[in-house]
Amino acid sequence: MAWSAPASAPAPAPARRTDPSLDPRPIPRRSLIPLNDRSHQQVPDGNGYSHAQATRGHKERVITGNRLTSWAFADAFVAEDDALRWARDRAREAGLRSVSPGTGAALRVLAATVDAKAVAEIGTGTGVSGIHLLHGMRPDGVLTTVDPEPEHQQFARQAFRVAGFASNRARFIPGHALDVLPRLADSGYDLVFCDGDRLESLDYLAESLRLLRPGGLVAFEGVFASGRTVDSGPQPTEVIRLRELLRAVRESPELVPSLLPVGDGLLCAVKR
Ligand SMILES: C[S@@+](CC[C@H](N)C(=O)[O-])C[C@H]1O[C@@H](n2cnc3c(N)ncnc32)[C@H](O)[C@@H]1O
Repeated sequence: MAWSAPASAPAPAPARRTDPSLDPRPIPRRSLIPLNDRSHQQVPDGNGYSHAQATRGHKERVITGNRLTSWAFADAFVAEDDALRWARDRAREAGLRSVSPGTGAALRVLAATVDAKAVAEIGTGTGVSGIHLLHGMRPDGVLTTVDPEPEHQQFARQAFRVAGFASNRARFIPGHALDVLPRLADSGYDLVFCDGDRLESLDYLAESLRLLRPGGLVAFEGVFASGRTVDSGPQPTEVIRLRELLRAVRESPELVPSLLPVGDGLLCAVKR
């Protein structure tokens, strides 16, 4: 028998809601964290997220101003001392990024958590991250830090001294990471911190897996790339490489991953 339409008229469509507080503008899908779109702040809840979008059937949760303020509070939670300020000033003068105070505090905690005696660092810079790592390591621990720029390492050496670390707590190796890392011992490290050339991130991951003991931890600084990693617009190769790194770490059966939202994003993973 042929199907026929019902004789009765279709029910009228429900009236559109026009109250803007009930019907916020859609969040642009281009960015998960809209920087200048305040519509998501209209229905905040206690935990800093807005459920306005969820009530409209969207899966993404958006970030409120409270959440950003909380992040800023967390990032400044552990105060920095004169040595760190000195190293930061040298980095600023040299046009270098240093890890944020919050990332530095996280690095201390991670180094202490794995009871680090041997840490490898890619990208010494002027020593900001190195000071944080040394504070978290065992008192007899040694930081091996690699950087092709002797001037950066010279500043870091001075900064470590100002921070009160004996000179035998750090081994400075001048050179490019991919030339130096193959000479370091297999399974000889408790933690590897990567903050060198982002284009080489996947190579750093492969080397880290070789260098780490089981239960050791790898951390990558700056994986948010100032928001570009989650931005669907055209991006430079270094951002593409960071996305590949994030996928590789998340999908590796050898790793237990976590992406910490401190500073510019700290990707961490423990080697099984
Ligand atoms: C962002 S800075 C590191 C900042 C440092 N981790 C801190 O927080 O104080 C990046 C450093 O990586 C170094 N670098 C660049 N290419 C590198 C490579 N291929 N291998 C090792 N280090 C590299 C740069 O000379 C620079 O000192």
